[in-house]
Amino acid sequence: MAFQNFDYVPLDRSTQKRILGVPLWRVALYLLVSISATAFVSVLTTRHLMSRRKLHPLNLPANTGIATTLGFSQIFVINLDSRPDRITQLNEVTDFLHLSYERVRANTSEEAPDDNHTPSSHRACWLSHMNVYHRIANDPLIEDALIAEDDIDFSLDLHMQTAQVMRAVRNDNPAWDMVYLGHCSGVEAQQSKVVDAKLSLYRSTNPICTHGYAVSKKGARKLLQVMEKFTDPLDLMLIHAVADHRVESYSVAQPLIVQYHFSGDRSDINMDGGMNDNGDPLVMSTRERIDLLKLLQQS
Ligand SMILES: *[C@@H]1O[C@H](CO)[C@@H](O)[C@H](O)[C@H]1NC(C)=O
Repeated sequence: MAFQNFDYVPLDRSTQKRILGVPLWRVALYLLVSISATAFVSVLTTRHLMSRRKLHPLNLPANTGIATTLGFSQIFVINLDSRPDRITQLNEVTDFLHLSYERVRANTSEEAPDDNHTPSSHRACWLSHMNVYHRIANDPLIEDALIAEDDIDFSLDLHMQTAQVMRAVRNDNPAWDMVYLGHCSGVEAQQSKVVDAKLSLYRSTNPICTHGYAVSKKGARKLLQVMEKFTDPLDLMLIHAVADHRVESYSVAQPLIVQYHFSGDRSDINMDGGMNDNGDPLVMSTRERIDLLKLLQQS
């Protein structure tokens, strides 16, 4: 086999224009490719966002003043007077989703009843949630409520998902007590009885964390009795009550509400200020969407 011989004519390198030792045509090509790629990605991202907005169940124009409580009588957010920073963060997300809520002042460690066995912060947390149960049990205007802590992020499709989940719960048991829309447990879907697989709705088994759960009036009355004496951190006491079938509880295994920690945030419950394991992340995070839109606005 014979190879054809080509005359190799070398370019006269000395006549090429160069920038930092790179030929000009290469620099130009590089710029052209990167600018087109950036433009292409921006167009795609924007189109994606626009189509998402159209699909969003609550596509309300900004500042209409319309806000919802997700079909519950109220949303309560428990917040310490010493943590206005968390309310600032939370309001970005609740404004974006057009959610209205009532802030409940959290009890401080100093207000917690005396007990030498457990950290006072855990007792303060339990006391704060008990106060909300009181309110739900006794306020004639309240049929049910979502109880939330202040360090949270919501699923972008929270409105639609919550409506579907609560419909499925009421269908399964009109006398429901609790529904965990968020938890930090990885095992709810593996160990629990399924109610609606598509909504990832299960009977609760091990619903760790108390950052986002709905309670009915009947549920609140039960909890006031069941939880009357503080024995363990709140979420563990609730898990015991669930396991003993003293409350009828449901969990959304793929959480709609997760704990969210902005940089520099510290836990007021854990002595070391450290954060617990958060459990599964959101499929569509409202926080991430807001951050992305902020980035797009800047560019
Ligand atoms: C806990 O906080 C609530 C709400 O501010 C308050 O009404 C209640 O008196 C506090 N409990 C104690 C024991 O201080």
